[in-house]
Formats: sequence, C-alpha cells, structure tokens
Amino acid sequence: MQELSHDLLILGSGLAGLRAALEAARQTKGKLDIAIISKTQLMRSHSVCAEGGTAAALRPEEGDSLELHAWDTVKGSDFLADQDVVERFAAAMPGEILQLEHWGIPWSRKPDGRIDQRPFGGHSFDRAVYAADKTGFFEMQALYDTLQKYGGVVRYDEYYVTSILIENNRFCGLTFWNLATGEFGVIRGKALIIATGGACRIYGFTTYSYTVTGDGMAMAYRAGLPLKDMEFVQFHPTGLVPSGILITEAARGEGGYLTNNRGERFMKEYAASKIELAPRDIVARSEMIEIEQGRGFAGPRGLDYVNLDLRHLGADRINERLPLIREVAIKFNDIDPITAPIPVRPAAHYSMGGIHVNIDGKTPAEGIWAAGEAACISLHGANRLGANSTAECLVWGGITGGEVVRYLQHERHLPALPADRVREEEQRVFAGFFRRKGKENLYTIRQELRDLMDNKAGVFRTARELQEAQEEIRELGQRLQEAGLTDQSRIYNTDLISAIELENMLDLAQTIVAGALTREESRGGHARRDFPERDDSNWLKHTLAYYTPQGPRLEYIPVAITMWQPVERKY
Ligand code: FUM
Repeated sequence: MQELSHDLLILGSGLAGLRAALEAARQTKGKLDIAIISKTQLMRSHSVCAEGGTAAALRPEEGDSLELHAWDTVKGSDFLADQDVVERFAAAMPGEILQLEHWGIPWSRKPDGRIDQRPFGGHSFDRAVYAADKTGFFEMQALYDTLQKYGGVVRYDEYYVTSILIENNRFCGLTFWNLATGEFGVIRGKALIIATGGACRIYGFTTYSYTVTGDGMAMAYRAGLPLKDMEFVQFHPTGLVPSGILITEAARGEGGYLTNNRGERFMKEYAASKIELAPRDIVARSEMIEIEQGRGFAGPRGLDYVNLDLRHLGADRINERLPLIREVAIKFNDIDPITAPIPVRPAAHYSMGGIHVNIDGKTPAEGIWAAGEAACISLHGANRLGANSTAECLVWGGITGGEVVRYLQHERHLPALPADRVREEEQRVFAGFFRRKGKENLYTIRQELRDLMDNKAGVFRTARELQEAQEEIRELGQRLQEAGLTDQSRIYNTDLISAIELENMLDLAQTIVAGALTREESRGGHARRDFPERDDSNWLKHTLAYYTPQGPRLEYIPVAITMWQPVERKY
C-alpha cells in the first residue's frame, strides 16, 4: 500500500480548489507543501463549463454598490442566506475580479477598454463580468497558469479518493485508488480543503459533467460531518433539450426571449418587471407551468420544452458574445440560433446545499475546510443568483487557502493514522464490490435513481412523491448490493468507479429527499405543491443532515439575519 504525505491536501481541482492552492502558495511564497488530488485531469474539472459570468459590484459611480449586490443575493435566496456571509462575499468580489485581471484573464471589454459587465437574473445592475460565454474556462486557465509560478504544489490527477479519515474529530488523511496503476493508498495531511463541487448528477436531466457525482459531500457525510440545506437544488431554466447541456443565462442577459407554443413571451405574466431575467427558481417554475398547461412543445423522452429565441440579437452579437452556445446548438441539435429558436427546459444545475461550514469555510472537524459548491456556507440560501457561483469559488477558495496557512503555523505534526481503517477501506473498495453477485445491473439502478429524482424531487414536489422517492432510493441501495461488476481489474475500472459514485449519489439523494419531505413550505428552489407558501414562522432555518445507517437524521439551526428582515419576494 502506498503512503504519501503533504501538509495541505486539496481535494478537487476546480475553481475553488485552484484558488485555494494559489492563495496558500502565494502567502507562503511557494514554501508550503500542497497536494491537489482529483479523480479527473485538472483542466477537465467541471468549472471549465461555467459560461455566463462572475458577479461583482464594480461601478459605484454608475449606481451599483456592495450593499445592492448583497441585497439582490439575500432576496434571491428567499431570505435563507446568512447575511453576514453575503456581506463578506459582496465586499470581496471586486478585488477578486481585479486579481484575476492581474493574473492574466482576458475579460471581455467595453469599447472604451474597461471590463464589461452583462445583466444576469435577479441582479438589479449589470453585474456579471465575463469572458465571452467561456468564463469558467478562462478563469481556470488564469489560475492554473499563475499556480505554475509557485513551487510546492504536487498534483495527483486521476486519483480517486474513497474516504476521508477523521479520528477524534481531527483530520488525518485520505484513502485513494490510483486509477492509472490500480494501487490503493493513503495520503496523510495536516489540513484538508474539500472542493469537489456539487451533486446534480443525481438527476437525469442536468447541466453537469458526468464526473460531478458529489463524492466529496458523500465522503464528508459518512465521516460524520453534517450536510446543510440539501433539499435546495437549483434548476436552470435553459438546459438544452434533450442533452441537458447548459445554454447560458447570458443568452437572456444579452436580450434573448423565452416563448411558448403560442409565440408569447410568457415570463411577462410571471415576473412583470424582470421578465426573462427573474431569478432562476421563478423562471424554472414558470416554464414548467407553461409546459404542464399545454403551452410547451412536445420533446423526446417526455422532455417537453419552451423556446429560447435569440434571432433578434443578430449574427454579430451572437458570434461575439455567445459563440459557445451557438456551437453547442449547431453540434448537438443541428440548430443555428441565428436563424432558429433553441429548445430548453429546466435542468438540475446547482446544489445550494453542501458540507456545513462556518463563515471562514471551516467544518466542525479540526483541520477540515470546504469551499465552492461542495460547501454550504449559506451564501445562496434557497436559491442562488446566476454568476454568484464562480464568484463564491474565488472568494472562499481564497479565504480557506489563507485560513489553512494560519492554521499550519501552529499545527506542525501529522496526525497518527488509523491503520485498521485504511485496510478496511481497501477491502470495501475492491473485495467488497468485486464479490457482489446477482442479477442487478448498476447502470440500470443509476438510471432509475436519476429518473426518480427528475420525476419526484424536481422543480415541483409533493409529500406523496417524496415519500415514494424515499422508499425507492432505499430499495435501489439494496439492489446495488446485488449488482456484480463485469470488470474485476484495478486499472481504469470504470465499472468500479461508477459503483462507488452510485453509492455516493444514493446517500446524497436520501438527504435531498428527507430534507424536502420534512420542509413543509415553499422557498426558493424548493417548491411544494402541497405547501405553496413560504412559512417564516416555522421554516426560516437551515437543515442539517447527519449520517446514520438507517438514513439521515435532521436537525435545524437559525439563519443569520444582520441587515434585512424577510419580506415578500416580488420581481
Ligand atoms: O447560465 C450560466 O451561465 C450559469 C451561470 C451560473 O450558474 O452562475
């Protein structure tokens, strides 16, 4: 068994992970011993798929302000965001944009040379800084390039981490499977930052890359860390039908219309002031109502849709501002948005929930932080505003990187390893899965999980459907025990990767459904047909889910309200 060790382990190589690595390397002038561990190759992290922009209040002279950014975020969150967190976020963002500029990112510019900003849903100012419609790709590239300047960073690409080791509430290491060599091992560390992204591959119709299966959240949960607000899942209004690929909100920011089968811009009926640029939860629900009431278009596999019409923007604007989505629509649907509308419907896009952390990104376990979508710092509450996610990755990547540097000034010893647990984990990962026999097929089970989450824990929810989902997820877990693996090798065994990911997704699906069933109100991305109103008297609180072998145990903690009392949310 391989045994490695580094001072700081960063699990995940997307925006939050890279920003954390860069901050830690920068503050220590490349002297800190840092490892970045990822199941993918670094530039294949899902962050490269972020398209439309990164929000920051850059123009006080034109009427934007940190306070306005914070207010939009709190209102967008349906008042479930922690307001101290939101204030810190809005204040940090202008600096992050300028920092990336200095690190070489090619932001799109105004004709006068200043950084350009475009409108995004729920923001009351044109606030999304962007690089065409490939913002995440360019941000990743700028961070990665800059990281090359510093020593001390070792990359472990294609290392699949299988568990987080915590002893006496103190982090001590990660067990891993090296996909290329088949070796199993452990990486010891003094501190860990979890930056593994969200969990929306639990759903079938999703904008996520295939790799984003919530592994970090699931491992943290099984290691005893609570997950927070998992019932809040964001459905992006414009997933391309039938693939689910993201058609950026920037398409509406640039002026695109959503139309129904009568050619009507139906959003005027649901959000008179913001129309297509209402927050995502509202636009997603409106689309579903149009479709359910017969004003959509029939799509393949029951994926009925509405149209996103960009034709009036003209070829020049589409080619300059939205080249990626034009390419995607042509390649995947044989539709050129310059001449025809794009078929879209709500697609699972973002986990508002995640690993419970405090305002510094610290988990309840000593030596462990989490950042980006894997974490729930309570910035987005019940509904995230577009362009606030890449922004969060930058801010709390930076904060957690700095926090760990300070922690390591005092914490000099590698904690002892629980040797038995490492051996047990190797058994679980290989022998445990390889000896499974039976008639079940893991890919059928995975598809059934995704179908049931789409159908029973989607944009609209009811107690009956959620109870059915809860029962069916348990049954799928039992059936997975009888799914034999055809491939029994240890090198790039995609059957085994899929089986481990599926176990992770089943655990997380339980937390989503349990939280959604218990929360008898509608707030942000959680819309209960049987409890259609927001209920601040009983439900202005965060859900914490703790792992038990019988299923999640739920607790609740208060929301931090520092500036604005909840009011009716209208657009
Ligand atoms: O539509 C988009 O470009 C997505 C942005 C986001 O989720 O923040």
